[in-house]
Amino acid sequence: MASSDDLKKQAALAALEHVRPGMRLGIGTGSTAEHFVRGLGERVRGGLDIIGVPTSERTAALARAEGITLTTLDETPHLDLTVDGADELDHALRLIKGGGGALLREKIVAAASDRMIVIADGTKLVDTLGAFPLPIEVNHFGLGATVLAIAAAATRLGLPPKLARRQGADGKPFVTDGGHAIIDASFGLIQEPEALSLALAAIPGVVEHGLFIGLATAAVIARPEGLLWLS
Ligand code: 5RP
Repeated sequence: MASSDDLKKQAALAALEHVRPGMRLGIGTGSTAEHFVRGLGERVRGGLDIIGVPTSERTAALARAEGITLTTLDETPHLDLTVDGADELDHALRLIKGGGGALLREKIVAAASDRMIVIADGTKLVDTLGAFPLPIEVNHFGLGATVLAIAAAATRLGLPPKLARRQGADGKPFVTDGGHAIIDASFGLIQEPEALSLALAAIPGVVEHGLFIGLATAAVIARPEGLLWLS
């Protein structure tokens, strides 16, 4: 029986088949994306010519170690393809991302790409988003007021405002690559992700939230019974 990590690797390697010479790639963050980076590194060492924009410092370090040429969105503002994992996705290719805390860069990179392929094992595919707490990246300035505003927005939408500030493995408040805090919002099932997305984006202290809507163009989901492509 394939482990969850085997399935993540299968999804990553299936997405790798869509990488072509000369591509400008967005490179995702997380354990599934790390399989993609390792596979990409192997192809690069075999002569594949691509450049990549990493979505986190963690991915950048791994990609460099794999010998992948990196660039930035300042030098290369338009990308052909982003390959990234997700914490949850539904059948309409709406995602929750940010479990690894990289949602801001992940969303900027995905939005700069013509296509985004999500790579995931079968446990990530859900009928309705929301079992996974929604990560919300917030500015440190005014954090208390921002949390109150998020709770009020959730209540208006009929969602329970159960919010927790993310802690790092060291027990200290988690800080993103952009220097911000993360609030993990346990809203329960999100019946109207578009409405929630707009409501959160309208709060001044919210830097970005982990609902990715209209960004993914395809997903490859590896399940024990085989690969499922959604597009
Ligand atoms: C990081 C992310 C990751 O893509 C998401 O957390 C999935 O991670 P993993 O592949 O380790 O399950 O959004 O911010």
